[in-house]
Formats: sequence, C-alpha cells, structure tokens
Amino acid sequence: MATLPKIIQGGMGVNISGWPLAQAVSRLGQQGTISGVALERIMARILQRGDPGGHIRRALSSFPFQDIADRVVSRYFVQGGISKTVPFKKVPIFTVNMPRLLIELIICASFAFVWLAKEGHSNEISINYMEKVAMPHLYAITGAMLAGVDCITMGAGIPLQIPAVINALLEGKSVEYRLPVSGTNIAGYTMKFNPENFFGRQISFPKRPKFLPIVASNLLAKFFKKKLPEGSISGFVIEEPTAGGHNAPPRKIIRDKSGIPLPIYGAKDIVDYEEIARLGLPFWIGGSHASPKKLRWALDAGAAGIQAGSIFALSEESGMDPVIRKRIRQLGFDGNLHVKTDMRISPTGFPFKVVCLKGTLSNSIIYNGRVRICNHGALTELYERPDGNVGYRCPAEIEQQFVMKGGKIDETLGRGCLCSGLLSTAGYGDHGEPPIVTLGDDVSFLRKLMKDRSSSYTVEDAINWLLDCHRPLIQHG
Ligand SMILES: Cc1cc2nc3c(=O)[nH]c(=O)nc-3n(C[C@H](O)[C@H](O)[C@H](O)COP(=O)(O)O)c2cc1C
Repeated sequence: MATLPKIIQGGMGVNISGWPLAQAVSRLGQQGTISGVALERIMARILQRGDPGGHIRRALSSFPFQDIADRVVSRYFVQGGISKTVPFKKVPIFTVNMPRLLIELIICASFAFVWLAKEGHSNEISINYMEKVAMPHLYAITGAMLAGVDCITMGAGIPLQIPAVINALLEGKSVEYRLPVSGTNIAGYTMKFNPENFFGRQISFPKRPKFLPIVASNLLAKFFKKKLPEGSISGFVIEEPTAGGHNAPPRKIIRDKSGIPLPIYGAKDIVDYEEIARLGLPFWIGGSHASPKKLRWALDAGAAGIQAGSIFALSEESGMDPVIRKRIRQLGFDGNLHVKTDMRISPTGFPFKVVCLKGTLSNSIIYNGRVRICNHGALTELYERPDGNVGYRCPAEIEQQFVMKGGKIDETLGRGCLCSGLLSTAGYGDHGEPPIVTLGDDVSFLRKLMKDRSSSYTVEDAINWLLDCHRPLIQHG
C-alpha cells in the first residue's frame, strides 16, 4: 500500500473481523484488521467443525514448524465435523505458565488467520489485540509476525510494551511482558518467552509490523509519543465514545432511578484533533464516522481517515452469526435498534456497548437465567494469593468463588461473561450460552446500503459508498 488507507476496518472480537472480512477490505486497498482476541479458541473450534473449505489446514501447511502444526491439527481437527450437540474439546485457560500445547495453539492461530487474510493479494493486513487480554500477547504476536502481519493495533488499556516486544522478536532475543497483579506484595508478574528455545532454532520474521495504539484522549496520545522512542509508533487510532466494543471510561458517571450507572461524556472527553495533528503522526478517527460526509470531515480535521467497525460487522463478510446479523440489520433499517453503553457488563471494568436484542445477554431474564461459569478466562485479572503465588479471578465468575479469591462482591454486580457471549455471537459458543452483541451507536449507513429491510450489502458496497463522497448508493424516501 503506497499511500495510507483512508479506511481502517476496526478489529472486532470475537471473530467478527475474521480473515474473510479483513481480506475483503484489504483487497480493496483499505486496511483490513483481524481480531486477534481468543483466536486459539476460534481456530480449535473451526477445526472441530471439520475445517470447512480446508482453510485452516491450508494456512498451517505453510507454518514453518510442521511438527507443531501437525500436533495442533491432530489434537483438534475432526473429519466431517462434530455434531451440534457434542461439546467442543476444552482449550486450557490462560495462565502465566501455560502448557506448551496451548502456546503452540496460540502461535498457530494468529499465524493462520494472518496468513489467510493475506492470501492472494499484496495489501496490508493488521491484527488487533486487547491490552487487557495480555497473557497470550508474546505468543500471539510471534505467530502473527511469522505470517508477516503488517500492523498491530491495540487498545483497551495502555499497550506501552508492544514496541519493545516487536524489536526483541526481530532481533532474535527473548521477549517479556509485565502484567499487573492486584495484591499487596507482587507489583506485577513478568511473562518471558524465548522463541529460540521454544522452536529449537533461531527464527526470522518477514517484516517489522507497524504499531497503532488505540487511544481516546489527547493526553494518552501525547503520553505514548513522550514515553516511547521515536519510530516506535506509526500513528494513532482515536476512538470516540460512540464506537462499538469497549469504550474509554467517561470523566463523569451518573445513576438512573434504579441506580444503574450511566456514562456522561462531556466537553472534557472531546478530543482536540488540531493538537493530535501537531504530534506529527497519521491518525484515524473511529466511532460513528462511517459515512462519506464524516470521512470528509475526518480528512479536513487532519486525519488520514477513519476507523469504522459497525458498518463492516453487519456486512456479508462479517463473522457475526448470520441470523443475528440479519435481525440487527432489519432493526437498524427500521430505525428500531437500541444500543446502550453498559458500565457494568464487561469484566474489564470499561464501558461496553451492548445491542438490546431478544435472546441475548442484554435481556434481564436471559441474564438472570444464566448460570455463571468461567471456562474461557480471557478477561481474568491476576491477583496475589495468600501463598504469594499468582491467582486468577473474573468478576463475571460465580460470585462466591470471586469473593473466596479476595474479590469484592460489589465488583460482580451486573457483570456478564463476554468470553462465552461473544463466542456465541460468532457462532462458536458453548451449548446454551446466550450471545451478546456489541455495535456502535450509529447505524445510519444501513439505509444507504440496503434496498429494503431484508436485503444486505458487501464490504465492496460499503467501501465504494464511503469513498464516493456525498453520493448515497440508495436513496430512501
Ligand atoms: C462488533 C464489534 C466488536 C469490536 N471489538 C473490538 C475489539 O475487540 N478490539 C478493539 O480494539 N475494538 C473493537 N471494536 C471497535 C472497532 O474496532 C471500531 O473502532 C469501532 O467499531 C468504530 O466505531 P463504529 O462501530 O461506530 O464504526 C469493536 C466494534 C464492534 C462493532
């Protein structure tokens, strides 16, 4: 890609932005992004469903260590696929000391998804990780870089350590990642990974990926610029609070009549784009900017373009379950879609946008009827156990267990299991686990892209419309 993309398709977990979506966007000369979150679980489940089309096995046949790829395939692949009633094989939960098999799976999953997204074209592909899901970072980034990922985007925290990880991997050195640990004595836990020892020889990577931190304020953008050596970051994604997924915490929170906390994003949360432009790095603005007019506005504000998510999440190439996607498109087309900013649901503590949709965790009956279980553990926080070792807890797990691990009962209120819910939304959930859907506040693009409430649109339709400033594809009433 000689010039910077005007559109970055945002990373959307879990598997909403899988390789088919990212590839479709990149083929059209914009930046496609795979979601890197929970890929090891997604890949293990695709293999158990029989790997339709043979894509995962095709990608893994290019993995430089075939003994590792073979182990992963033979552990999870089921010829013809398991039936819907058979539970998926367990993938171990992340710990600071993971079994080799899990590390191999994490590395192979990031490798395979990047490899597939890059297949058949030479445009750039990025991968998105969440700083809050930090335990797999060292392994996942190794896998993505082995496949020649062009860019890493990361938010949901302050991912200051990533440039050093990229540098160390490229130099063939050991890498490390410091994780926060709640507790009195352990200030943090440093995970270490020596690729040469792990693979049995020195490894090399096709290229150095760019790094784009996702931030929500001038302060944080300036902080990155100040803290990191020159050249560590290639630009910023600035995400406004209307964006899908997790949002930055607001400066002000009020409570409604029933005591439910509501975010109030005010003047202090507004980003000063002139100041961002003065940092001298390219930036993309995300959050309700998916329209030709907003793209023009972003360019005029000095941005290289926009980061858009929802418009791609509802397109034909999205990894969202097609039935859920269709229902949301219809509601959005009719003007009946309600998206709330839920301050409690995400175990991360960040506000999370939730689509109010029948049959999903957004419904209080479904929420209350779900039996709490923590069997994926992507969002666990590390804490110091009485014996001085690291323990793992999640405020969405069974309340008593969380409290027994030293957590505060208040922390569990209103929390939902995003791991299970998001896997279900992608069609790879555990039996009986209700989905949860996230989307940005604005879906006005639907009436520009859909002929009627039952129709759909492709990535190509969306990109052509976004780039064709001022001329809507379809005019309604
Ligand atoms: C379904 C969905 C899932 C998302 N998941 C993530 C994620 O895992 N990591 C992330 O950094 N951003 C995530 N986002 C945010 C997008 O990358 C993008 O910044 C945002 O959607 C832009 O706002 P828009 O939806 O109004 O276009 C998600 C957004 C959506 C709609």
